[in-house]
Amino acid sequence: MAMAVLCMPMAAWAADPETGRELYEAVSIERTIQGQHYTDANCETCHAPSFYQRSDRKVQSRAALEAYVEGCNTNLDVGWFPDEVADVAAWLNQEHYRFD
Ligand code: HEC
Repeated sequence: MAMAVLCMPMAAWAADPETGRELYEAVSIERTIQGQHYTDANCETCHAPSFYQRSDRKVQSRAALEAYVEGCNTNLDVGWFPDEVADVAAWLNQEHYRFD
């Protein structure tokens, strides 16, 4: 009997910043934010790009970045799966954070 080779392609697990960018730009949620009702709120409704680069930003590591993306994903019911959160974190990392 031939031995089954369990081949898990690494690419399936590596976060993809391009996919992350598409996910990030596609966010559109209905939400009241600071008294204003939006039908198409997205990440930048709360976070101007400069937010991710401010000197006292909270995130100081790749793991923390992923945790914060997951936090906002959950709070806002965006609905990203964990691998999608990883993709978005990879995109924000490439654009703003620049962790190794
Ligand atoms: C309703 C407002 C709101 C929206 C919309 C929102 N966030 Fe956040 N986000 C927050 C708050 C509040 C914090 C915490 C800020 C703090 O503690 O200084 C935060 C923090 C973060 C941080 C950490 C920033 C740092 O200090 O380095 C990241 C990354 C982040 N959010 C990603 C996202 C992404 C991705 C989305 C889109 C899915 C999103 N957020 C949408 C409110 C929001």
